[in-house]
Amino acid sequence: MKIVPTIAQAQSHAKKGPRVLVPTMGALHRAHGELIRIARGQAGKNGEVVVSIFVNPLQFEPGSDYERYPRPEQEDEEFCRKLDVDLLFRPSATEMYPENRSVFVEENSLSNVLEGKSRLGHFRGVCTVVAKLFNILQPDAAVFGEKDFQQLAVVRRMVRDLNYKIDIVAVPTVREADGLACSSRNVYLNAEERKQAAVLRKALLAAKDSGKKSAKDIVGLTRTIISEAPLARIDYVDLVDADTLQTIELPGPNSLLALAVFFGKTRLIDNIVLG
Ligand code: PAJ
Repeated sequence: MKIVPTIAQAQSHAKKGPRVLVPTMGALHRAHGELIRIARGQAGKNGEVVVSIFVNPLQFEPGSDYERYPRPEQEDEEFCRKLDVDLLFRPSATEMYPENRSVFVEENSLSNVLEGKSRLGHFRGVCTVVAKLFNILQPDAAVFGEKDFQQLAVVRRMVRDLNYKIDIVAVPTVREADGLACSSRNVYLNAEERKQAAVLRKALLAAKDSGKKSAKDIVGLTRTIISEAPLARIDYVDLVDADTLQTIELPGPNSLLALAVFFGKTRLIDNIVLG
């Protein structure tokens, strides 16, 4: 595995066949591992898997967890090595963002709801960094997780509207034994918060199975179940169309129930598609 910290080195690394990119912010866990395995399958035996690790300051709002975001460099490196990654791109913030930068990539429809409403500027940061990674690394395909459903939709829209010739591959959410979605932020949870966080999956599944026929009832039931966990503080629970991400009143075959909930200072997200 080759590790490159500069854009120039990444650009001069000759492509050997189909290249599949897995963009991450590091603190790699089982779900990242699953994305890398899928990338390996997509790349085939002649292709190469590229992982990027970059904690992107542009997608963190002021006062959020940018500074304390975990950065276990050595473990991440070992993790990638074990999964047979070909190229690890690990730039610094100054390498990625010149001081007088003045160009950003903005998606202006899907980004304005759910996460985008709670985290102003977040998707502008995501789009800008993902566009830069695509330009620098020139992948043929890139792998993203459905845990960040909105991010996946925004990236697909960017690829379509800016004509990137890159296949976007979606990977279903990887979960812990009690249903909690794997996340680099789960390490922030104390034992009691961690235990109670399992309520999120429980609430989404109960809402999906309830057979309720209105968004009001589905969202209401989800909120009621989450509220059974005394440490949970709901940011939003919303039923949206899975393509447009706009709020809907009646669930259809393509509805997404999405939520963000705080446990202490830790903000967790999850979602489920209602059949
Ligand atoms: P990060 O949170 O490190 O996630 C990297 C990729 O792993 C994303 O595509 C995310 O959706 C996926 N992922 C994380 N947890 C997952 C889970 N439990 N199941 C399935 N996939 C999961 O998302 C980012 O980084 C950044 O926004 C990035 C795209 C790298 C841009 O900075």
